[in-house]
Amino acid sequence: MAKKRVLSGIRASGRLHLGNYLGAVKGMLELQDNPEYETFYMVADLHTLTTPYDPKTLKNDIREVVLDYLAAGLDPEKSTLFVQSQVPEHVELSYFFSTTTSLARMMHLPTYKEKLKLHPKDSTVALLYYPILMAADILVYKAQSVPTGIDQEPHIEVTREIARKMNQAFGTDFPEPQRFVTKGEYIPALTGEGKMSKSAPGSYINLTDDLATIKKRLAGAPTDSGKGEKVPEKGGVANLLTFVELFEGKEKRMGYEQAYLGSGIHYSELKEDLANAIFEELKPIQEKRKKFEQDAELVEKILEEGAERARKVAVETLKEIKEKMGLIESGYFRAT
Ligand code: TRP
Repeated sequence: MAKKRVLSGIRASGRLHLGNYLGAVKGMLELQDNPEYETFYMVADLHTLTTPYDPKTLKNDIREVVLDYLAAGLDPEKSTLFVQSQVPEHVELSYFFSTTTSLARMMHLPTYKEKLKLHPKDSTVALLYYPILMAADILVYKAQSVPTGIDQEPHIEVTREIARKMNQAFGTDFPEPQRFVTKGEYIPALTGEGKMSKSAPGSYINLTDDLATIKKRLAGAPTDSGKGEKVPEKGGVANLLTFVELFEGKEKRMGYEQAYLGSGIHYSELKEDLANAIFEELKPIQEKRKKFEQDAELVEKILEEGAERARKVAVETLKEIKEKMGLIESGYFRAT
């Protein structure tokens, strides 16, 4: 039986944080190691252009994501690793998709409205077009599974709608992809509000942070008196307990919950233990990263081969779509 395809990506906004790692990369790793799947993983550099960015640092930001991917264990022998803009078929397909997507549907997406609030002066067509390009990223490989955070669910839903519409209108066979869910699909901010994000200072821990930095970042997480009648379900303390569960296990969390209702939690100890547990998980990743940092040529080669492999698949989909949409005769061979 043919392997099921997987596609995922992360925007190129520099080094990855724990939210990216637990919400997306862990799922990417799980599917890469499952022989039933063929995995395509990219750096979504074109999506980075939808909000203000610095062209001078973009190349380096792309590189940082690639290094974090490789360090975390994405393996070019098992997965096709590439940079989105090096496979121009994504953009080409997205244009065809835009012809069946309604403007109103895009304008009412919660993700669009949130971004617009963050960048009120930068309401570009590219930002509105974001989900269409993302649908093309996924469907150009006819991927069925997408390991990504829960915040991306509205975009996966749009992808399914586009697949249905295209199939109905043109007789294509795009699958309706599902999000591949991991335990850490929603990683809260250390600040106690919202999700861990690059755009919220003090909210994140990077995969490259050393122990001292992790301690410093955790020190900034808000707490309370350490005891009360009810364990908080929201805010700083609730979030710290989420991290305890993710890095030290459910039992440790239950211990703290009991302490909260009784003798009280000593947050300095909690944070010290948590920092050590997080660093333990990151240490091997950081060691692996160093090897790739020193071998720019190898990284370049991995990306070149990845783009070439990805394009082989993408070109076929474009040929099919152009035939079905009436642009070319069936049998025409597009030399690329
Ligand atoms: N929008 C995703 C994010 O912000 C990144 C992304 C772009 C993506 N294209 C994708 C994720 C395709 C999964 C599949 O995290």
